[in-house]
Amino acid sequence: MSPNFGTGPGAITADGCAVEVYARLAPAGVPELIHEHTAAGASVLDLGAGVGRIADPLTDMGHRVVAVDDSRDMLARVRSATTVHCSIEHLRLPDRFDVALLVSFLVNTPDADRRRAFLATARHHLAPAGAVLMQWHPPEWFDALAAGGSYSGGARYLPGRPYAHEEGQLAATLEVESITDGVLSAVVTYDLDDQHWTHGWQTRRLTVEDLDTDLQASGLQFDRFLTQDRTWVRAAMAAREPA
Ligand SMILES: C[S@@+](CC[C@H](N)C(=O)[O-])C[C@H]1O[C@@H](n2cnc3c(N)ncnc32)[C@H](O)[C@@H]1O
Repeated sequence: MSPNFGTGPGAITADGCAVEVYARLAPAGVPELIHEHTAAGASVLDLGAGVGRIADPLTDMGHRVVAVDDSRDMLARVRSATTVHCSIEHLRLPDRFDVALLVSFLVNTPDADRRRAFLATARHHLAPAGAVLMQWHPPEWFDALAAGGSYSGGARYLPGRPYAHEEGQLAATLEVESITDGVLSAVVTYDLDDQHWTHGWQTRRLTVEDLDTDLQASGLQFDRFLTQDRTWVRAAMAAREPA
């Protein structure tokens, strides 16, 4: 059970995301980053794709994208990618992909079994030379935040944030409630004109070694960081299956 929650106008997903918020978030350069690290016309599996914020622009760039989400309300907004309604943990498609995406810090999910299930699904769907591209919160992201702190959208947001918005359109504030045993509990509020949403969630601080351990347990291996701020990680199939 996810302790996440969400409030506000429109549909809210099981993990507390507001469809109307994600429908308004700009892709913020993410499709371009993925495109840069992906062969032309590659097949891409976007796990937890939401409204297709990343999947649709990648389709426009010539990739064949399958967008997976457990929210039908999110998937209903996907424009051009192929949609699959399924939990990431249970997804077992017959197809294999050049790239599997885990965007939006899903890999920082506090529960280790769930985290490894996400990675195992990504690994299962990889073509032999395929790669997992994932966005995570590196440890320094956590270390810059304090319990009780309030961080408004704009300059005080840290790189790699999921809240990047077209300037002036959607104001976001991150309020950190607690950081206990490596798990950060926070509420993000979004304001747009007279509309107001909240999203409560938890995210776990993982070291690079922790991430590497989870990757290895899932049959993957760390390859490299794709960005200087270390929020984008490339992982490849491990030489050997996990024990
Ligand atoms: C924070 S939103 C991000 C959506 C999209 N990746 C983006 O960047 O715009 C997370 C999405 O993952 C989906 N999600 C979360 N946990 C999931 C799971 N276990 N299986 C399938 N979808 C999941 C939610 O429904 C939501 O649409």
